[in-house]
Amino acid sequence: MSIRRAVALGSGSYLPERILTNAELSRTVDTTDEWIQTRTGIRQRHIAADGEFTSDLATAAARQALEMAGLDIGALDLIVVATATPDQTFPSTATRVQHNLGMTQGFAFDVQAVCSGFVYALSVAAQYIETGKITNALVIGAETFSRILDWTDRTTCVLFGDGAGAVVLQGRDGEGTKDDRGILSTELRSDGAHNALLYVDGGPSSTGTAGLLRMRGKEVFRHAVSNLAAIGDEALKSAGATSDDVDWVVPHQANHRIIEATARKVGIPMEQVILTVSEHGNTSAASIPLALDQGVRDGRITPGNLLLLEAMGGGFTWGAAALRW
Ligand code: UT7
Repeated sequence: MSIRRAVALGSGSYLPERILTNAELSRTVDTTDEWIQTRTGIRQRHIAADGEFTSDLATAAARQALEMAGLDIGALDLIVVATATPDQTFPSTATRVQHNLGMTQGFAFDVQAVCSGFVYALSVAAQYIETGKITNALVIGAETFSRILDWTDRTTCVLFGDGAGAVVLQGRDGEGTKDDRGILSTELRSDGAHNALLYVDGGPSSTGTAGLLRMRGKEVFRHAVSNLAAIGDEALKSAGATSDDVDWVVPHQANHRIIEATARKVGIPMEQVILTVSEHGNTSAASIPLALDQGVRDGRITPGNLLLLEAMGGGFTWGAAALRW
């Protein structure tokens, strides 16, 4: 049976120039390189420059992805930006990216699911493509978490960084089997009961400020592994695949220990996991497309590979996608 698939044509990414190492951080907060590396796997993170906004990071990643895809701006129907750190409360960062790219047709909007944002955005774009409503979509995850960190709180400020990643999707006909190229399945979940474990203590409607990130890390950790493993299994099942079919896991990069424990539960060896957490830290919605682009550009991910994307974040939100590159 012929069905419409959202096929990835290219990827791109952008990291701000400034690198903040653990050693540097240990001079301003009570922490050590050893603690951060042992507990998280993070060695360094990138920090956006003054005047460099989420939309700038997103635009740079988008340009790379469009170039790899060989797609003209005039052919784009939709831009979805996953971000929890928009330039402005409104309008959306996606419309700023649209303007930066010189795109005057189609439509653009943001998706807010914090660290799961890219999987959510991918799922939304895929629905538009699979129904035949649109043909070409640009899906971006972009964040400047450095702007919402409490730089005196060692339990959170050492974990996050800034960056952006993007993927171009195009509608193409597939056979409806797990051998098709494109997004084979997406599974999304949320549970608002856990708001207090990971949130920002401000917002336009509550405090009138942007607020700062607050997290009860240990409790988030506990939920993360079981939620991620379960949703990963579900996405594979919906795709008609098993863990044996997976070539690469491209996980949200929050913590090396979470990634390892989840891979073990899903039954995929660490040699098949794309890891960027040591270099990027947790870049929220940007972490999956940043890792994906790294894997594509260094030649590990090749056309035909089956990828399992999985993420979990504030809300809680969590999700997974099976994607044949
Ligand atoms: O992306 C969204 C999803 N987020 C996540 O997935 C994050 C999930 N959580 C985690 O990754 C981990 O829980 C953390 C990395 C945040 C923390 O690791 P942990 O092994 O759970 O440590 P902990 O919170 O239990 O803290 C252990 C100790 C505490 O000291 P006491 O109470 O045992 O004396 C902390 O105060 O480590 C202390 N500590 C630190 N020490 C040095 C906390 N942060 C630091 C630090 N440097 N930066």
